[in-house]
Amino acid sequence: MTDLTQLEAELSARTAAASDLAALEAIRVEALGKTGSISELLKTLGKLSPEERREQGPKINGLRDAVAAAIAAKKAALETAELEAKLAAERVDLTLPAPPERRGRVHPTMQVLDEMIAIFAEMGFDLAEGPDIEDDFHNFTALNFPPKHPAREMHDTFWLPEDAHGERKVLRTHTSPVQVRVMQRLNEKLPAWIANGPPGANGQPPIRVMVPGRVYRSDSDATHTPMFHQMEGLVIDKNIHMGHLKWTLETFTRRFFETDAVVTRFRPHHFPFTEPSCEMDVQCDRSGGSIKIGQGADWLEILGGGMVHPTVLANCGLDPDVWQGFAFGLGIDRLGALKYGMPDLRDMFAADTRWLEHYGFSAFQAPNSATGLS
Ligand code: PHE
Repeated sequence: MTDLTQLEAELSARTAAASDLAALEAIRVEALGKTGSISELLKTLGKLSPEERREQGPKINGLRDAVAAAIAAKKAALETAELEAKLAAERVDLTLPAPPERRGRVHPTMQVLDEMIAIFAEMGFDLAEGPDIEDDFHNFTALNFPPKHPAREMHDTFWLPEDAHGERKVLRTHTSPVQVRVMQRLNEKLPAWIANGPPGANGQPPIRVMVPGRVYRSDSDATHTPMFHQMEGLVIDKNIHMGHLKWTLETFTRRFFETDAVVTRFRPHHFPFTEPSCEMDVQCDRSGGSIKIGQGADWLEILGGGMVHPTVLANCGLDPDVWQGFAFGLGIDRLGALKYGMPDLRDMFAADTRWLEHYGFSAFQAPNSATGLS
């Protein structure tokens, strides 16, 4: 007969000494496995007389439970120790240099837009916006583009399919339709102003807005992209003339390029919605492969403008004998490319993160006219 006390002492000593989970599992199989020493003892119970079984049964079962409990306790202890060893080995080393973090950059178009807004806001311009999908009336007709007139072909227009009412909308070809929307809104307010006087003292300008936005033309080369950004300007009051337009644009250009050395030139031009119309060029130097502003003998066209055509005023419900004003439109991306030296406008919208890393701006470089634009 096996000495149960001795077996228990031996198993308990070996369990306590087991140095890892594999050694412990070997002890468990040896004692409690199918042919383990304790399992074999349990099998002998069947062959004993009832009296012997009553005596031996509780002892052997007790031994089995005690050994199983000791092994379970040791297993838990070994597992904890193993986890602690792993955690200690994998501890974060705070003295290592941090992995580089990718930072977002502000797209140059948005940076340049903020610069322009800062300049025009300082001159008292409000912001106005309009929809990208326009109707024919706002994009063309109200702006004095006669029906079927070749002037409509001046812009290679993206037309949308005819809608249920037989109307074809357009992706606006310029920001000028917002002129019409702003004047129409003014027109709605006019009766109240005539009754109660204008909103500001002494005929404060009823309209002085800047209108940034996306515009679309079917065009693509180094200096044209099918989508680009324009900034429209519109000033309407009773005594506005070309001199105001010229001062506004010259002042804007000097502040934008951050040099008083900018020389501008106004050339007569044609737009259906302004009369007289002009284009403004800046003097530049193209000789070194890149364009430098404020020097040289070349000219670069940067915007169009003029006095709002009387027909446009009338189309918006304003009496051209009372109200007049100027408007201009400039290319935001093109001016940005010029200021920051980007050779190809198409790169601006190619969504190449390497380009953005190089030309983009930090989000902390918000332009403002007090601390500097760029
Ligand atoms: N809308 C014109 C263009 O896109 C620019 C412009 C705006 C001209 C306002 C005159 C007045 O070419």
